[in-house]
Amino acid sequence: MSTKRAWIWTVAVLAAACSLTLCGCKKKQTEDTGKNYIGVAYYNQSDTFLNELLDCFRSQLKDIQGGDTETVVMVRDAAGSQRTQDDQVKELIDAGCDVLCVNLVDRADPSEIIDLARENEVPIIFFNREPVAEDLMQWDGLYYVGADAEQSGYMQGELAADMIQSNSQADGNRDGKIQYVVLEGEVGHQDAIIRTEAVVEALADREIELEKLSYQIANWNRAQAENRMEQLIGQYGNQIELILANNDDMALGALDAYEKLNYTEAAVPAIFGIDGTEAGLKAVVNARLAGTVYNDKEGQARAMAQIAMALLTGKGMEEVEFESERCVYLPYQKITAENAEDFLYQNQ
Ligand code: BGC
Ligand code: CA
Repeated sequence: MSTKRAWIWTVAVLAAACSLTLCGCKKKQTEDTGKNYIGVAYYNQSDTFLNELLDCFRSQLKDIQGGDTETVVMVRDAAGSQRTQDDQVKELIDAGCDVLCVNLVDRADPSEIIDLARENEVPIIFFNREPVAEDLMQWDGLYYVGADAEQSGYMQGELAADMIQSNSQADGNRDGKIQYVVLEGEVGHQDAIIRTEAVVEALADREIELEKLSYQIANWNRAQAENRMEQLIGQYGNQIELILANNDDMALGALDAYEKLNYTEAAVPAIFGIDGTEAGLKAVVNARLAGTVYNDKEGQARAMAQIAMALLTGKGMEEVEFESERCVYLPYQKITAENAEDFLYQNQ
């Protein structure tokens, strides 16, 4: 072989070896830069509660990790499509993410994501939208962080019962029954189904006579809730005595509808939400909402950050308080005008 050909061969072999190393070791690259990569995929960027939760997650990560490691968070919004989210998860894995946090679009359809994660050995912390237990058990690199949906609905019912039993105006037409409507989150979401059942159960346990006027799905969304409520007000007018919304955004949407129709403050029925978002808490402070239930985003974000860091560093998993092996459920808390300010300013 001439020296020239031998030289060309050497270059070709080196190039091939080099490209192999490059494609086979995205993770290695991230290790070399001393950075950790966490991929976050969530169902919809228009969701108020989740945006607040993700802000908390970023700040909790900063608190938990030491000064010498840098963690980069890459966030992807699926805009309500599970197909899009499946692709985004693949992209995050290809980009070298070492851990994923996934807020499923369709909580009943995580199999593609689980397969991808398992093949690539990238653990997943699911959050807020709870996969069914059989799916979570498919691989031991899967975790869930959320809250106890039943508790939130039950607490909302207790708040409403307290209000009704202490306020003689609550039964507007004095027929001994409370005429109510429910604004529900997405069909199939654990928090929508369970909160709706539990709130009614709590009111029944407190022996409040109820008359259901209507249940309307508004997909957690303020504008949709406003729209549904405008129709209901058109249909039932002053008969509506109580509005139970599965989350604060829909409670605020109901309020928007009354404001749009120029109802005076005194003529708006009692409205209860769940979450304690910034806007929700402010509305409770101003007595525009009768109460809400705090969905502990700080606690959820902390658990997600703890698990993520433990997976990245191999240390600290024993500090996480798991239930059913790989799940963390944070408790809810009741909020009324009396304590709403404490929650509003707790993290400032
Ligand atoms: C929250 C809602 C939110 C939903 C999104 C629920 O836990 O209460 O405000 O829209 O999660 O999955
Ligand atoms: Ca009544």
